[in-house]
Amino acid sequence: MWLPLPPILRVFRLCLLCWLGVGGVQAFTQRSWEEAYSLANETVQQLTQAEKLGLVIGVGEWSSRCVGNITPPSRSITLSSTTLTIPPICFNDGPAGVRLVKEVTGFPTGINAASTFSRRLMRARGVALAEEFRGKGVHVLLGPAMDIMRNPKAGRGWESAGPDPYLNGEFAYETIVGIQSVGVQACAKHFIANNQEHWRYGLSADVDDRTLHEIYWWPFMRSIDANVSSVLCAYNRFNQTSSCHNEALIGSNGLLRQGGFQGYVVSDWGATHDSASDNANAGLDMEQPGDFLLIGGGVYGNGGLNNAVNDGDVSVTTLNEMVVRVLASFLRLGQDSDYPAINFDAQEPDGSGDLNLGISVRSEAHTALTREIGAASAVLLKNDRTTTTGSDSGVTVRGLPVAQERIKTIAIVGQDAKMPNLDCNSLGECNDGTMSVGWGSGTNSLQYIVPPIDAITEFVGNSATITSSLSNDLSAGPAAAKGKDLAIVFANAMSGELGAYDIVDGNMGDRNDLDLWYKGGSLIEDVAAVCNNTVVVVHSVGPVYLEWSTHENISALIYAGAPGEQTGPSLVDIIWGAVNPSGRLPFSIAYDEDAYGTEIVYNSLGFPTITYTEKLLLDYRYMNEQGIAPQFEFGFGLSFTTFSYSSLSIASSGGSKVISFNIANTGAFNGTEIPQMYLGFPDSAGETEKVLRGFDEVILAVGEMRTVSMSISQKEMSIWDVPSQSWVKPSGTFTVYVGASIKDIRLTGSF
Ligand SMILES: *[C@@H]1O[C@H](CO)[C@@H](O)[C@H](O)[C@H]1NC(C)=O
Ligand SMILES: *[C@@H]1O[C@H](CO)[C@@H](O)[C@H](O)[C@H]1NC(C)=O
Ligand SMILES: *[C@@H]1O[C@H](CO)[C@@H](O)[C@H](O)[C@H]1NC(C)=O
Ligand SMILES: *[C@@H]1O[C@H](CO)[C@@H](O)[C@H](O)[C@H]1NC(C)=O
Ligand SMILES: *[C@@H]1O[C@H](CO)[C@@H](O)[C@H](O)[C@H]1NC(C)=O
Ligand SMILES: *[C@@H]1O[C@H](CO)[C@@H](O)[C@H](O)[C@H]1NC(C)=O
Repeated sequence: MWLPLPPILRVFRLCLLCWLGVGGVQAFTQRSWEEAYSLANETVQQLTQAEKLGLVIGVGEWSSRCVGNITPPSRSITLSSTTLTIPPICFNDGPAGVRLVKEVTGFPTGINAASTFSRRLMRARGVALAEEFRGKGVHVLLGPAMDIMRNPKAGRGWESAGPDPYLNGEFAYETIVGIQSVGVQACAKHFIANNQEHWRYGLSADVDDRTLHEIYWWPFMRSIDANVSSVLCAYNRFNQTSSCHNEALIGSNGLLRQGGFQGYVVSDWGATHDSASDNANAGLDMEQPGDFLLIGGGVYGNGGLNNAVNDGDVSVTTLNEMVVRVLASFLRLGQDSDYPAINFDAQEPDGSGDLNLGISVRSEAHTALTREIGAASAVLLKNDRTTTTGSDSGVTVRGLPVAQERIKTIAIVGQDAKMPNLDCNSLGECNDGTMSVGWGSGTNSLQYIVPPIDAITEFVGNSATITSSLSNDLSAGPAAAKGKDLAIVFANAMSGELGAYDIVDGNMGDRNDLDLWYKGGSLIEDVAAVCNNTVVVVHSVGPVYLEWSTHENISALIYAGAPGEQTGPSLVDIIWGAVNPSGRLPFSIAYDEDAYGTEIVYNSLGFPTITYTEKLLLDYRYMNEQGIAPQFEFGFGLSFTTFSYSSLSIASSGGSKVISFNIANTGAFNGTEIPQMYLGFPDSAGETEKVLRGFDEVILAVGEMRTVSMSISQKEMSIWDVPSQSWVKPSGTFTVYVGASIKDIRLTGSF
């Protein structure tokens, strides 16, 4: 059941019960890192070697009720201040909802959280996700992902926040703070330069030091600011060495520890290679799943770490440090008291089996938040709105928002509008129906998905007649649309994680191209040829070609991304205007793949080396340097209203700069503006013209004006200086650009 809510409620609705810890979530005590480390140190002194090993080695892929687990000591440990009982620490996917479990919410994906450009919603999503993981007894949420979308076809790009490091960093920070505020450990992944699916189990990403710091490391740095509990080392090699035994990355003098990371490093499932000592001495704290997968693994497991300690190849001190880091993260979030027991069984994802207690962790608040983020992440790319004149002036005749009193015949066209085939499999390779999430371990439960056809039919009720053609058939679609007051055409493109079976419509994780699937582009053009009020909805995991959108009969285009289970209701909110669109593109949409300047390596004789020769120049940075104009630029998105910007001022505050300006709603609809701030470095810095350094969500009623402030920290004004191995603020003049997208700059200043 869903009901449209007035926009004002939607805007101010935060999950108050969630914040207060009511509604199934127990109160818990967080400790400081110091307290947690001290307790963990005291604990490790009392453990036998077998008990220590149990805490850092997974129990095996098929032996756990979670996606991963460890073996805790079978006894309680008496400490000076408390008695500690360590449970089997449960690790589970995924970053958009609890996977392999029933009675959970299918939350919006990371890329849609990014499209909101709303820190409020990013954090609220983290809180809500974690409430469900906690409710199911999961201690470690395997996310968020913060892999940079180096190429738009990258299979898992939709799990994180796109090609911009600052946006990924803010997304990672807010998500982790949200997750951990509920007492659930977050796991920053995939460390690092894990940017394509083909050959991922061994390709080497070779990245120069400056690029690594400014692009790929940036969101991990923000994760450490958020006190992230764990980091997942990736499948790929980095600079020719496996990420999970790469000292330059995870060693005591490596990137993570030098960056202040205090949690533990856990391997991606099967990402361990070579000997136990190679990994332990390089800084890998925990191996998952602990046994052998075809691709690797079973390095600490199968007696490997035990033998290495007995032989002296791994010192007892090192083993103790590994255990202490795992325990400190667990203790810091207070997971030793009042934590719900595991009440599901990932080995029985259909919900059967004795260990599934069928406990629902869904809530009205989570459904409402999913719907709110779905609507707030929908990007309105085109709106040719015509309105009535005369006595009833201002009512929409064509375009959005649809006026219920004017539109009496509606065609719904395309297989993306219908219920997906939910029996596809637990990896989510469902593309027969609406696309709300990609496939693989980042997928979520589709059990309660509300497809567009259902939501629209329920909303429209008796106010209009609906004709539908829920396939991509090029004759039936136009036949349904011909002569209708409104045709809404749906099309999609999907991608996911590479695994043994994960080839969907010929795409092996990474997409093969940037076309809409199943001739979606042709379907749209054929419908537009017969209906002069064609509204197009695109569900996609990332950039797709939209060159057909200039068609004169396409009155509106909504890029809805991969919005999670409330896909239908969130679109109703946008199309009929209960919510004024405020989503923004977290990437550029170009006319040609070459505009992105990078390529997926599909074909190789063995694991390739991929040298990141483009350096800093991804997406808008590359297009700007090459003088390529995208069809829709980074940060772009329309509203039903208009906003004016004025009065830019720049002040200093300590080492930071504070940028202030006014925004007023000058149009006829209440709405939310997403002002963006781009920084232009002095020429000597070697940066492109403008890089994102700020954004906000500003809610404005008609005629209302607000002052917005954004600050730029010293680090955000710095570049990574390789010789000094430090962040250095270049000398010279900085330019501040404030606007509604990277191309729509309204105010400029300098310091
Ligand atoms: C705990 O032990 C680690 C090394 O094992 C050490 O670095 C740390 O300072 C200790 N912390 C406390 C609070 O004793
Ligand atoms: C990776 O290799 C590049 C090229 O040799 C080098 O500049 C960079 O410092 C290396 N990074 C790490 C973390 O090892
Ligand atoms: C991270 O931990 C430090 C030290 O315990 C604390 O001062 C800081 O407020 C924490 N930050 C967040 C975002 O939790
Ligand atoms: C659009 O098509 C309808 C009939 O389907 C027609 O009545 C209307 O005049 C057309 N509008 C325009 C602007 O061509
Ligand atoms: C637009 O739609 C009308 C029908 O309403 C059709 O006659 C016309 O040919 C269409 N225009 C184009 C360019 O396809
Ligand atoms: C617009 O916002 C104002 C102030 O919050 C509110 O009073 C008014 O009802 C809103 N208008 C609409 C159409 O939602």
